[in-house]
Formats: sequence, C-alpha cells, structure tokens
Amino acid sequence: MRKLLKGISILCVFVLLIMATACTEKPAETNAPAATTKEAAAETTAEPVDTGDDLIVVGFAQCKADESDWRMANTASMQETLSEANGYKLILADSNNDAAKQVADVQGFIDQEVDYIVIAAVNMDGWDTVLSSAKEAGIPVILMDRTINASADLYTCWVGSDFKAEGVKATDWISTRFTADDEVNIVNLQGQLGASAQIGRSEALEDAIAANSNWTLLAQQTGEWSTDTAKEIMASWIQQHGDKINVVYAENDNMADGAIQALEEAGMKVGGDDGVAIISFDANRAYLQMTLEGKINCNVECNPLHGPKVAEIIQTIESGGSPAKVEVVEEAAFYYDTITQAIVDARAY
Ligand code: AHR
Repeated sequence: MRKLLKGISILCVFVLLIMATACTEKPAETNAPAATTKEAAAETTAEPVDTGDDLIVVGFAQCKADESDWRMANTASMQETLSEANGYKLILADSNNDAAKQVADVQGFIDQEVDYIVIAAVNMDGWDTVLSSAKEAGIPVILMDRTINASADLYTCWVGSDFKAEGVKATDWISTRFTADDEVNIVNLQGQLGASAQIGRSEALEDAIAANSNWTLLAQQTGEWSTDTAKEIMASWIQQHGDKINVVYAENDNMADGAIQALEEAGMKVGGDDGVAIISFDANRAYLQMTLEGKINCNVECNPLHGPKVAEIIQTIESGGSPAKVEVVEEAAFYYDTITQAIVDARAY
C-alpha cells in the first residue's frame, strides 16, 4: 500500500517536472523559477534508501543482536525471512540494549522513509514521541517479541510472548517440587530491568511468593541477560546464603548457565531430584540439552522465531488488509524428568 502511495507521489512529481520544463521553454511570462521547482522535485524524489528493484524496506530496531542465544536466533529469523530474495531490504539497527539509542534508531528509520518499522523494545517506556512521528509519516510499526507502554493507536500490532504466563509455568513447577512444609528459598536473576520479558517473569515469581507463606525471596538482581554477570552475582549470593538457597529463578538460559557455573564451582549440587532447583526461560537447544542432563529442572520456552509472522503481517498490510492487533505465540515448558533427546534434537534454535 505504502509502495503504491510512494509510486503515485513520484509519478506526480515527474509530471510536474515535465510541466515545469515545458513552462521554462515558454516566453518569460511564467514566474515559477525552474531552479526552485527542480530543487523541490529533487528533494521529493531523493529516496534516502534506494532499493533499486522496489524491495519492501524494513527498519528493524533490535535490542542487542548478540546479547543472548535467544536474541541471536531472533535476529537470524528476521534476516532469513526478510531477505532480498523474498522481496525485502532489511536494515538492522542494534541499540546495544540502550533504550535511548533504540528510540533514536527508530527516528533514523523515519528519516530514511522506510516502508515498515519493526521494534523489539529494550524498554517498555519512552516510545510516545517517536511513534507519533512514525504515525505522522504513515509508516506502520510492528512490535515484535516485547510489549511497550504506549497508546495502541501508535503501533499497528504486536506479536510476541505472554511473559507473565511463562513465569506462571515456572512457579507452577516449583509448587510441584516442594510441599507446603518445605522451606523454599529463592534467588531471582532478573532480565534487563524495564524489559517486558523481565517485568512479566518477575511479576509471576513475586505473586507466587506472596501466595506461599513457606516461600522466601532471598535475593533479586538483574543479571542483564548475561552469563558472566549472572555468574558473578550468583557467586556473591552463595557467599551470603550458602546452601540455604534451594531455587534459582533465572529469567533466561544464559543467566541460568552462569548461575550453574557458580554453584558447581562452589561444590553445590545442581538440578536433578535433590540439587538446587534451576528454573530457566528461552529453551534454546543447548540449554534444553542441559535440561535433559538434569542441570536445569524447568525450562520455559520463549519463541524467538518471529520472522515468518512479521513477514505475514507485512504482506497482509501490503495487500490492503489489517493484521490482528495482538498475536501471542504458543509456548511450552520442558522438565528434566520428562524431556527426551528427540525433543532436544528437533529444536529449531
Ligand atoms: O524478550 C525475550 C527475552 O529477551 C529472552 O528471554 C532473553 O533471552 C532476551 O534477552
């Protein structure tokens, strides 16, 4: 649709150019200085992103492309699907998990007059101004993966995960692991603060702790989705709390891995039937293997393969349709005592 509008505007300018040229060949009575008209025409048709053979130009504002196994799979899914062979020019802007830079990246896409903007939001807040600019520019905005705090009329649709539901799957497993008479002492490695994935998963844990008088939150801190950061934090928690810790609630696989490394280096038993229970999110293949080996007890899936769904949304809009405002992807959970090698091997990421 947007390509059609762009094509019409170029045609109009072309006709104007011909008329202006014809006018300048006439007697001096015309007063539209050709230079002004030509300059104006050049400005209108000087497309900052020249796709040549009419590709759909998609600006993709990613959190931090190599931040986690999940994020790398998410970026790969977008690059594989929105390829030139499939009719797209994908422009990836990596914000390095800097929320302010990500907003500037989106403004850059508006300035480049891309056809679509896709955002995997670092932070839920700070989007109203730049999304209002995108709306004024007539550029559809597709939220992918995470949600944001902005008026729903400022974006076309959102496709992603129900992060709180993911957290409930994890706390439900904790409830099966322990009885009401057990002391459940939990440490929580949070994702980057302000990300909807962190907010949803943390909220589910905090609600479950409030609902179970024998559950205690010993410590909570952001591990920034990072293995190394999580390992350092876990080592300090082991110093403080020792073998009082019997549950690690890590909000992604990379942080669960860091916690497991710290626990094993401290000589503590991990996972299985009687080790420190490890909760993780994402279910990347490498960490499902650790689940199969019993190191991770409960791994809740967070599907990163959003490329095909984003392409489907774009094609719906291109053909004049309206995509669903909200599309929550189906996700499962995997457990150390029921997962199989076949499930691990079949994992797409
Ligand atoms: O938004 C999804 C989360 O972002 C994943 O769980 C995490 O690994 C990534 O950083």
